[in-house]
Amino acid sequence: MKTQDSAFAPAPEPLLDLAALRADTPGCESVIHFNNAGCGLLARPVLRTMVDHLDLEATIGGYEASAARAAEVADFHAAVAQLLNTRPGNIAFAGSATHAYSKALSAIDFRPGDVILTTRNDFISNQIAFLSLRRRHGVEIVHAPDHADGSGVDVAAMAALMRARRPRLVAATHVPTNSGLVQPVAEIGRHCRELDLLYLVDACQSVGQFEIDVEEIGCDLLTATCRKFLRGPRGSGFLFVSDRVLGAGYEPLFLDMHGARWVAPGYYRPVDTAARFEEWEFPYATVLGSAAAVRYALRVGLPPVARRTPALAARLRTGLAGLPGVRVLDGGPAPAALVTVAVDGWRPEPFKAAMDARGVNSALSFREFAQFDFADKEVEWCLRLSPHYYNTEDEVDAVAAAVAELARSVR
Ligand SMILES: Cc1ncc(COP(=O)(O)O)c(C=O)c1O
Repeated sequence: MKTQDSAFAPAPEPLLDLAALRADTPGCESVIHFNNAGCGLLARPVLRTMVDHLDLEATIGGYEASAARAAEVADFHAAVAQLLNTRPGNIAFAGSATHAYSKALSAIDFRPGDVILTTRNDFISNQIAFLSLRRRHGVEIVHAPDHADGSGVDVAAMAALMRARRPRLVAATHVPTNSGLVQPVAEIGRHCRELDLLYLVDACQSVGQFEIDVEEIGCDLLTATCRKFLRGPRGSGFLFVSDRVLGAGYEPLFLDMHGARWVAPGYYRPVDTAARFEEWEFPYATVLGSAAAVRYALRVGLPPVARRTPALAARLRTGLAGLPGVRVLDGGPAPAALVTVAVDGWRPEPFKAAMDARGVNSALSFREFAQFDFADKEVEWCLRLSPHYYNTEDEVDAVAAAVAELARSVR
């Protein structure tokens, strides 16, 4: 997240034109969408881009359509690069954040006894991937301790583990799926750079919600999806690969004819760019829709989005705080727009169904999603409410009132 140079007066606040943004978002007419951490609502230009491309494919042929839109396809890499403060050659398209993450892990030649140093709040699928690497390659998984007050990883203790264990990989999730906790990924990155350790960041829940600068974070690899706070289509994500990693010759376990040249019968050569992490086949309508979503986010402006979105979540937490039978679970000094609540006396599915019936989209998180975090919080499940900048203060208050009503109804 960007820091400000205090020697200069702050730039005038760019404002969001909420009415225009909502008019641009068809879903706003039918639902109170507080499931942006699941999947954001598409904006009209994104939808139109995708439908237009499907029409073109149907009219002139799939290969011909992608050739006709080659410049816009290439803009996926340019737009994501601008979003992350890097170059297009450092970006690879992926079918999901998890796909990008697996590709990144597959590029590391893990040996028995290698250490993966991670956090207790890293994403469930990343933890499962580490366990799978432990089973197959005998790596050791080390979880850095958290601060006792629930404010996330203790970076000093993590840095001490870096020095003592010299991990093959340091992995941190910026914002987990199961709470609004924001982990200090740039602070962790400074230690990784100082000690020259390979650093992988999962920015799936933070990209599109905050300004993400890969230089500032100091990561070697970063993964995200397009469908959440970036408001892109389902089935798309990306991987950032640093020049350090490309230059050192890292490549995924399986490359194809797009990621490598078959230069002689017994020899292939990976391409120079992050395209070595991609596959030849692209879902072109989705790639174009994702590029349109990233351009849309850049036009709206990440600084005002990064102010408004967590502020709406903070308003919701205030509305829920102190309600009998309701516990707000998010830790840390400045949580992200994932508001997680435990509600006494309800089973998860009926509770979510009751929110659905009130026109509110939400999501459930279960103990399995967050073995460490939910054990610490002593909860088996929670409701996750994740607003975005296009939601209104009235919607926030309506959602708080719906939770209050349902919590009361079991008393
Ligand atoms: C923190 C985090 N990382 C990774 C993912 C996985 O993203 P995808 O479903 O695109 O693989 C999610 C999805 O919820 C997530 O919340």
